[in-house]
Amino acid sequence: MDKVRAQISAVGMYMPEQHISNHDLSEVVNTSDEWIRERTGIGERRFVSDKEANSDLSVKAIQNAFEGRDFHPEEIDLIIVATVTPDMMFPSTACIIQEKIKAKNAWGFDLSGACSGFLYALTTAAQFIQSGTHKKILVVGTDVMSSILNFEDRTTCVLFGDGAGAVLLEPAQKDDEGILDFILRSDGSGGKFLYMPGGGSLHPASHETIDQKMHYVHQDGRNVFKFAVKLMSQVSREILERNGYSTKDVSLFIPHQANMRIIRSSVERLKLSPEQVVINIDRYANTTAATIPIGLAEAFQQGRIKKGDLLLMASFGAGFTWGSLLLRWGDLGQPPGDQ
Ligand code: ACO
Repeated sequence: MDKVRAQISAVGMYMPEQHISNHDLSEVVNTSDEWIRERTGIGERRFVSDKEANSDLSVKAIQNAFEGRDFHPEEIDLIIVATVTPDMMFPSTACIIQEKIKAKNAWGFDLSGACSGFLYALTTAAQFIQSGTHKKILVVGTDVMSSILNFEDRTTCVLFGDGAGAVLLEPAQKDDEGILDFILRSDGSGGKFLYMPGGGSLHPASHETIDQKMHYVHQDGRNVFKFAVKLMSQVSREILERNGYSTKDVSLFIPHQANMRIIRSSVERLKLSPEQVVINIDRYANTTAATIPIGLAEAFQQGRIKKGDLLLMASFGAGFTWGSLLLRWGDLGQPPGDQ
């Protein structure tokens, strides 16, 4: 093997228990179940309870990944958390998770890549595996979007939900398994279309920033939609072509879940069949950095992923940030009894 690849060896997810239907939202803002379903494909989303933080969801997703198998937290070398809604500005949510799971030999950090955060984090983790310096890395994609939503703004508050997904990354056992390739991009000129202006050093929290609702998501949905549709399919096609694959070779496409119409359009452009695509936006809405690991965990737990499968992931989010990743599922990805 000329290069050690990084392979996902465990995957888990956690969704908070509070179901919020479109009808529930129509009681607080001027919207309707019909509009939300038709324009976004979202039927409901989950929100945290008052006492639940981002790190709590993350810990439960990690525990879910290790259900039925031995978990030795002291063996974890590194924890990378992709999120735009950390428990607090600092310490990092990675450090909070480290303490909660007692991963006393790990180090860790948070990474801000919005909806592309999980692909950014997974790829970053893969470099530490490939360099041979790290053996076990937890990568978490997690967001509590309900903490930054303006429930007076119907154009944004209906789109998002809370949730977490987590994977363990280890060296692959065979050279044709694991993360095969990735493409990551960003274009800061898109920053003005999707952002949260308050709470950073530019606009620290003050009565004025609160009055101006600067601690909420601000989005120009039409522009984000336009770029997402074009760039997500473009970057997916590019990674397949440069690796000599066609969409027929893809076992499962796991796209970021922002809008059913964005997913459908990407699927049509790529000429994928419905069986090849993971969709859960109808039940969970857009959980930002968590959509891809949640989609992966759910597909795995439903038996939709088998050894040797070629997985294609693609994302688009605030920044703008976008990317794609190709992965060949391996031995380590089997549930304990099946290995
Ligand atoms: N309920 C009822 N009506 C609504 C709602 C609502 N919740 N929201 C908007 N409308 C109205 C608008 O006010 C507008 O009314 P008007 O014509 O009287 O002005 C009408 O519906 C149409 O509005 P549009 O913005 O044109 O609706 P569109 O079909 O574009 O859908 C949406 C809006 C769903 C936001 C879409 O643009 C979208 O999904 N954009 C992309 C979102 C996304 O991908 N985000 C990126 C990831 S997030 C991240 O990175 C953190």
